[in-house]
Amino acid sequence: MNPEPKKLSTDPYKGVRDFYPEDMFVLNYITSTMRSVVEKFGYQEYSASILEPTDLYRSKTSDEIVNEQTYSFKDRGDRDVTLRPEMTPTVARMIAGKRRDIPFPARWYSIPNVFRYEQPQRGRLREHWQLNVDLFGINSLEADVEIITIAYNLLKSFGAQDTDFVIKINNKNTVRKIIERELAGEDVRKYLTLLDKRAKIGEEAFKEEQEKAFGKVVNYDIAEAAESTKEIIDTLIHRGIGSVEFDPYMVRGFDYYTGTVFEVFDTNPENRRSLFGGGRYDNLTANFGGDPIPAIGFGAGDVGIRDFLEVHNLMPEYTSSADLFIATIGDVITDAQKLAQQLRTAGVNVAVNLTDKKVGDQLKNADKQKIPFVLVVGEDELKNNEFTIKNLATGEEVKRTSVQEIVEVVKSR
Ligand code: HAM
Repeated sequence: MNPEPKKLSTDPYKGVRDFYPEDMFVLNYITSTMRSVVEKFGYQEYSASILEPTDLYRSKTSDEIVNEQTYSFKDRGDRDVTLRPEMTPTVARMIAGKRRDIPFPARWYSIPNVFRYEQPQRGRLREHWQLNVDLFGINSLEADVEIITIAYNLLKSFGAQDTDFVIKINNKNTVRKIIERELAGEDVRKYLTLLDKRAKIGEEAFKEEQEKAFGKVVNYDIAEAAESTKEIIDTLIHRGIGSVEFDPYMVRGFDYYTGTVFEVFDTNPENRRSLFGGGRYDNLTANFGGDPIPAIGFGAGDVGIRDFLEVHNLMPEYTSSADLFIATIGDVITDAQKLAQQLRTAGVNVAVNLTDKKVGDQLKNADKQKIPFVLVVGEDELKNNEFTIKNLATGEEVKRTSVQEIVEVVKSR
């Protein structure tokens, strides 16, 4: 006898997500809000494949991401392939590839899913959707201000108050210069990596690690770093963006940043991970040859935003994308479908009962699916050409005769 076949697990692969309709509703709410905010600022959407040659990430991004956090494999032609862990190298590649045709400044955005082999935990998963907003071709304070203004507007559009978040700013170029007086070559990079970890490991370990690596605790002149962020912080505050502050210890993990760097944090301690992170990267496109094209942008993940919405009571209430459910009594399916089709033509989203269930059970099912309205079709309704429409949330019932009248009731939601 054959052994019982092993049942397959219904769980998704560790750290990636299934989006059941309620979750998809939230993701769509988040991405459509992102879209509407960045398009208000004139940004154009682009996209690319999930797969990239592994070389794209070597040396120019972050050791931690490349060596420990990518999903990399060999394809059947023995090429090294990586599932994108972020979008910035991809967009730099695309911009560099069409640099002669693209009108600059280019304002581009995308909402890709990206993959990182991380230990799944609150706020961090192995797959997330990440809004990327990037401005290419301008190296000026105004570009930096625009990008940070978009980050601010995004959180405001989700209903956040100014006190719900803080935008931390630093200048990676200045920090690098300060540290170059104390350390040389690869040690500078090592120090910046340590500085980036300081918040996680604490001041004590931060000092110990420096002793171990450089034989001394490096003298980091914070006042000089503060000075270099003064103009942008003052400008933002002057333009009404009050939730900004200088953070000497925030330098961002990626090596490609060359100037302003920023991260947005939830002020609620339950959600301590960064919500958005970004900065200026003026040299990344030079990897593809030609003069570098200055760039600044940021990434904002859906996971952190969802946590933010939950913590601050800003979650949207789920409703079905169907406006109306047509319940049936008796053998009326042909007429019910005909009515449904007329309503669809008039712009109503309609689902029709296909079961033998009692009408009461049909209504319960529609309510469970959070469909806002039901309309009952039976022999009597067809004979009298009068239909009852019930609002499932309020229990209110109205009778209507023409398609146009039904549309008006349903569209009032
Ligand atoms: P990042 O700081 O690595 O930057 O990611 C940006 C945002 O994506 C984070 O603030 C966080 O919301 C989200 N995120 C990152 N990793 C995860 C994860 N494992 N799970 C859930 N959410 C995550 C970048 O990726 C840069 N390429 C952003 C950028 C664009 N810089 C310039 N332009």
